[in-house]
Amino acid sequence: MPSRTDKSSLQPVFPDLKGKRILITGASSGIGAGMAKVLSEAGCRLVLHYHSNPEGISRTLDEIKDSGVEVQTLQCDFSRLDQIEEFFEQAWAVFAGLDGLVNNAGVVTKSLSLADDQAKEFDYTLAVNLQAPYRLSTLFAKYCLADDKPGVIVNNSSIHGQATCEWFAAYASTKAGLDALTKVHAVEWGQYGIRVNSLAPGVVPVERTFDVLYQPAMEKKWVGAMPAGRYGSVEDMGLATAYLLSDATSWMTGSVLTLDGGLIARGNYPHR
Ligand SMILES: NC(=O)c1ccc[n+]([C@@H]2O[C@H](COP(=O)([O-])OP(=O)(O)OC[C@H]3O[C@@H](n4cnc5c(N)ncnc54)[C@H](OP(=O)(O)O)[C@@H]3O)[C@@H](O)[C@H]2O)c1
Repeated sequence: MPSRTDKSSLQPVFPDLKGKRILITGASSGIGAGMAKVLSEAGCRLVLHYHSNPEGISRTLDEIKDSGVEVQTLQCDFSRLDQIEEFFEQAWAVFAGLDGLVNNAGVVTKSLSLADDQAKEFDYTLAVNLQAPYRLSTLFAKYCLADDKPGVIVNNSSIHGQATCEWFAAYASTKAGLDALTKVHAVEWGQYGIRVNSLAPGVVPVERTFDVLYQPAMEKKWVGAMPAGRYGSVEDMGLATAYLLSDATSWMTGSVLTLDGGLIARGNYPHR
């Protein structure tokens, strides 16, 4: 796949995104960093959240510096639900408002339901992957309403919300929940001009998974199951996020946009 390196090339594609104020959670690595790169190319002003990886968020800033867009970083641990309101107030204040919220931060937890005591892990996953996006989205909608402004929310869920496999009880439950939340919020907030959609990525190698996914046997198994014949890239996810944030999807709300190279359409999710 050609990679998109021309920094100004997305502005003609998504012209309405230029100058838009977007909060991306979990921008210190992986998909969130890819989203930051693509949205900076589209000319968005960005509030970039991180949790435990200050070096990662510095790398993201370095990656997007040539775009010249205004950027601010903010730290928060979303498992501390009591800290989310203060975090959001700070994020809103950076550019005196936000036009879009990308709930991307998430933890990929794995364990066998019977072998492990999952209760603690389940609670943590639930907090970061579902309760935090719920709270952030509600705050975003309330602030948009108070300012009498429209807004757009993109929730980064996963194909695990639709089709899953062993080890993913906590993770898949939160992602299916996030897709349901997308629909409820779209239904409730459409009347206020707030659109809400989910992005459901398939397998996208990130720093966390490079070692495993690029082992030849793993690559053969996973890529072999994908009609598109390749893994997804963080840039694919960034482009889809730009699309969902832009006026190109002004009539789209309550939808789940699956980007998985055809993996679950074929219905042969590989055994882990
Ligand atoms: N990669 C894939 O194949 C794939 C597929 C489907 C869906 N997704 C979803 O994509 C999103 C990003 O994942 P990724 O694959 O890009 O992995 P990643 O590189 O590990 O990114 C996860 C992000 O979430 C943040 N985060 C983790 N725990 C947090 C906490 N307690 N509070 C606040 N933020 C926290 C991390 O921040 P720090 O590093 O700063 O702690 C990081 O920025 C997740 O929601 C994941 O479920 C990924």
